[in-house]
Amino acid sequence: MKFLIINGPNLNLLGSREPDIYGQTGYEALCQSLRETAASLDSEAECFQSNHEGAIIDAIHGAPGRFDAIILNPGAFTHYSYAILDALKAVDVPCVEVHISNVHQREEFRHRSVTAPACVGQICGLGTYGYTAAMRYFREARHGG
Ligand code: DQA
Repeated sequence: MKFLIINGPNLNLLGSREPDIYGQTGYEALCQSLRETAASLDSEAECFQSNHEGAIIDAIHGAPGRFDAIILNPGAFTHYSYAILDALKAVDVPCVEVHISNVHQREEFRHRSVTAPACVGQICGLGTYGYTAAMRYFREARHGG
């Protein structure tokens, strides 16, 4: 399978950003390990990160025909981007939403995801393993391919 792994705002700062919450692994190291994990699952992963809502929407629009599944950590857009919700609804590519931290143990505004209703499911609180768990789900469920 081909996975498009999209990370939203501030996730380029993984490793240095609030490491007690998000861990010590940098963004590039995460992508490298996700590509390796995908290969071990006879799959391919392409990583995309942007701090801009429109760029994330464009990446989602570009997924049909190129990717079998999207794994999306929308960052703070999770909590208010109806535009990303609509983009996910507009494409026929299944998506799993991932959050590195357990958003339910954090501030109230993080408890609500406006984007999750357009996703197959949501994984949160498992650290960066959440991205791997999502790939394994798609492979084992043979969702979409
Ligand atoms: C996050 C949780 C969001 O609330 C936050 O704005 C992020 C990262 C996570 O991966 O835990 O940027 O999506």
